[in-house]
This record gives sequence, structure tokens and C-alpha cells, in this order.
Amino acid sequence: MQIISILSISNVSIKRLQELLVCLLCRNMAPEIIMLTIDLRPMTADDLDAVLLIEQASFPAPWNRDHFLHEIAALHSYPHVAQLDDRLAGYVCLMSLFEEAQILDIAVAPDQRGRGIALALMECAIGLAVEKGAELLALEVRSTNIAAIKLYERLGFERVGIRSRYYEGVDDAVLMEKNLKCDCLSR
Ligand SMILES: CC(C)(COP(=O)(O)OP(=O)(O)OC[C@H]1O[C@@H](n2cnc3c(N)ncnc32)[C@H](O)[C@@H]1OP(=O)(O)O)[C@@H](O)C(=O)NCCC(=O)NCCS
Repeated sequence: MQIISILSISNVSIKRLQELLVCLLCRNMAPEIIMLTIDLRPMTADDLDAVLLIEQASFPAPWNRDHFLHEIAALHSYPHVAQLDDRLAGYVCLMSLFEEAQILDIAVAPDQRGRGIALALMECAIGLAVEKGAELLALEVRSTNIAAIKLYERLGFERVGIRSRYYEGVDDAVLMEKNLKCDCLSR
């Protein structure tokens, strides 16, 4: 039997829900529908043990506790976590200052990937950046990180530059941006 997950997300992702429903109708499927409730909320210091486990499992040069404490405290930073069935499944760190916002960090627990959690976190960050008045959302991604690049492209980010051998003097960083002025209209 075909199993489709439908994400019930506290903030956004109506677009994701629409895509899933269109997909079901087009394929004339009779799926078993599983409701997953993802709670998106601001990160607190109490989240950091779980956040650090995900961070260490996700990056060769992970952020430490002080990095995240700084993001929680900083005036223009908006770190958020995704909680799934009482378990912290991922997080995103957004900084937004005047017209420009930046994604500083995003990761999902390895065993929770492929369920739309990063999509939900990014949509949350995009919504927050628009709300704070940003007109542009920027980020850097390792050129070999295909999963992340596909995620950003899916959300309308475009490649705008390269920093050669930025990571450990080996991998390039791809600079990507999303114009949020257009996004206000499409959301
Ligand atoms: C990149 C990452 C955040 C994606 O998280 P995720 O929750 O698995 O992603 P989602 O399930 O929300 O996927 C959303 C979209 O991203 C893309 N994507 C995600 N994983 C992918 C993969 N393994 N291969 C190709 N595309 C992928 C797809 O476009 C996907 O949409 P689709 O499922 O409709 O095809 C996750 O792999 C991760 O934590 N990686 C380690 C940390 C990291 O690299 N962070 C980015 C730093 S720039």
C-alpha cells in the first residue's frame, strides 16, 4: 500500500500540503494517510543538548554550545527548532538585519531526514525573514552538499557566486540567494 505522510505544521507549509494533494489526485492513489505534527518554535538553552547531537552528526566542523547560546541571545538572530512527537528533530538559525537575512545553520537528525522537516524549517525561516522586513535571504553551502542545494533550489534560491576552496581549503562554497520581495506575493 502506498503510504503518504502529510505534515501538519504549526506555522506554514500550506504549499507543501497542496503539492502532496495534487500529487495524490494526479496519480489516482488511495493512500494511507499518516499525520505528522511538526511543532516549530524558537530555540532555547534547554534544547542545546539535542541540538548539539544533531550538529555533531551533521557537520565536519560543528558549532559548539557557545555558538548556539550566542544565536539564542543575539538581537537579530531567530534560531528555531522543529519538534516531532516530543523529539527535537532539527533546527535552523536565521539572522535578519534590515533588508538582508541569512541562514547561518540548518540540520535535521540523520534518522529524521527525508520527511519534509528541513522544508518546514526553511519555510519558517523565510516567513520570519519577510516578517522582519528582509528583502533578500542569503546562505552558503558546500558545493558537494547535493541534498542541501536541492532543498534551497526547490525553495527558489539561485546560485549567485562561488568562494573557492572555502571549506577546509578543499571544497568550494556556493553562495545562494532568494529574493523575498517576490516571495511576499507568491506565499
Ligand atoms: C540538507 C538537510 C537539512 C535536508 O533535510 P531533510 O529534512 O532531509 O530535507 P526534506 O525532507 O525537507 O527535503 C526537502 C527537499 O530537499 C531536497 N533533498 C533533501 N534530501 C535530499 C537528498 N538526499 N538528495 C536530493 N535532494 C534532497 C529535495 O528537494 C527535497 O524535496 P523532495 O522530498 O520533494 O524531493 C539534511 O540532509 C541535513 O541535515 N544535512 C546535514 C546538514 C546540512 O548539510 N545542512 C545544510 C548546510 S548548508
